[in-house]
Amino acid sequence: YVVHEGCDHIFFVGFLGAGKSTLARNLGGLFNRDFVDTDRMVERIMGKTVCEVFEQDGEEAFRRGEAQALRKLRDRKSLLVSCGGGIVEGAESCTLMHEMGTVVFLDGDVEDSLRQIQHPELRPDFVSADCARRLYAYRRPLYERECDLSIDIRGKSFDQVMTEAGQLL
Ligand code: S3P
Repeated sequence: YVVHEGCDHIFFVGFLGAGKSTLARNLGGLFNRDFVDTDRMVERIMGKTVCEVFEQDGEEAFRRGEAQALRKLRDRKSLLVSCGGGIVEGAESCTLMHEMGTVVFLDGDVEDSLRQIQHPELRPDFVSADCARRLYAYRRPLYERECDLSIDIRGKSFDQVMTEAGQLL
């Protein structure tokens, strides 16, 4: 990989509902580091919601949007980045993350994730619990392959996860 000098972001990846955004935002507040969320960046770039992108342009377009969002982070420093749950499916996004910093997998239980997801209609890939379980089974090896390190979040409180993740900063 082309490592970008001084560009030491931390990318949180993991299944939907793992708490990536909440964690990254809270760590950002605590450690005074900027926080960004790739879903929100894609929405800004494409001028529509995540759901609209999936419906109108398809998943591939969304993955391209994610890579475009990540490219914008090259000239930023020490960001905490909450990534969309499917970002590891994009080869270019994976390369970009490795170029720009450390990829941390929030390794949780898929059943906990399903419980966390309060608004399934906002998640285009969440058609049913079974569908989400299949997606998780498919993605798990991708998260494992692409991460530099993982945090086991099963059965842990938010504070415990904050403490563990804080040790990385
Ligand atoms: C997706 C997860 C979502 C969002 C989009 C697709 C996925 O992000 O990027 O709905 O494919 O798993 P979160 O994991 O932040 O909900």
